[in-house]
Amino acid sequence: MAMELPVRPRRLRSTAVMRGLVAEYAVRPEQLVLPLFVAEGLAEPRPIGSMPGVVQHTLDSLAEAVAEAAEVGLGGVMLFGVPEQKDARGSGALAEDGILNLGLRRAREAAGDDLLIMSDVCLDEFTDHGHCGVLTPSGLVDNDATVALYAEMAVMHAECGAHVVGPSGMMDGQVGAIRSALDTAGQLDTAILAYGAKYASAFYGPFREAVGSSLTGDRKTYQQDPANLTEALREVRLDVAEGADMIMVKPALGFLDVISAVRDAVDVPVAAYNVSGEYAMVEAAAANGWLDRERAIDETLLSIRRAGAQVVLSYWALEFARRYRRG
Ligand code: PBG
Repeated sequence: MAMELPVRPRRLRSTAVMRGLVAEYAVRPEQLVLPLFVAEGLAEPRPIGSMPGVVQHTLDSLAEAVAEAAEVGLGGVMLFGVPEQKDARGSGALAEDGILNLGLRRAREAAGDDLLIMSDVCLDEFTDHGHCGVLTPSGLVDNDATVALYAEMAVMHAECGAHVVGPSGMMDGQVGAIRSALDTAGQLDTAILAYGAKYASAFYGPFREAVGSSLTGDRKTYQQDPANLTEALREVRLDVAEGADMIMVKPALGFLDVISAVRDAVDVPVAAYNVSGEYAMVEAAAANGWLDRERAIDETLLSIRRAGAQVVLSYWALEFARRYRRG
């Protein structure tokens, strides 16, 4: 006996075509950015143990990966450099032949304007103490001295071919200083993707292996406390006022509420970083046969889009785009 029930939401889920018709959100390759690591002194790409499927690239394999990313229609690549030598001031970051600078040149050569070349503006890969900035004599991270170095780095990245620079160090005033340095250098069209709300997160664990980080201790004096939401809104509003073209929230999955609140608080595009630990969790579970890998990837990316991110940085970007193109 049928119930007298005029409203039946299941009607809209009855067939694949119907579900396709009413789907509210989607993930497209052009909204995705692939993070890439380029390491100095490698003869061939080196696998990263805690991130199965991700490697540290040589300059040659980097160029190939960038060309493929452009071919499948990704929005961009975000480059991180892994130097052989580190020192207290992170000098490798500002060396003409520093690995990130060389990588940016090769990447731009490989892709031209077919996709956006983005660069990580941060010192942690280059410092022997592993902090995102230079230290005062008493060992604290020196905000203003660090910002001056970021500004120089950003100009260098733009000169090496970066379309977008991504300051990720969470120093106060970094966006304004970078904008002003870029403008003074005539790099008016170089955009800033500001890591506005970057939390001190355990989910960066595998990344630290990926870049051979030498950090002991933590980044809690500059990255945000996961307990805070209002503070994130303050940070992103400041970044927009200083000239950020886009704002990033990071990590993504534990911070979907932050993405959504930031989306409402600013009028610039919002990006979210689906970080190394989020990647590793799914890969590890899938390797054990504990979940359906592709469905978990799709659901992850979709949830970040649904929370309000226009742009998603993900280690799955290339694989997702290949699959999307195949239909
Ligand atoms: C710092 C930086 C980090 C990540 C991106 N940029 C590490 C950190 O802040 O400790 C993490 C990315 C990831 O985990 O995938 N330059």
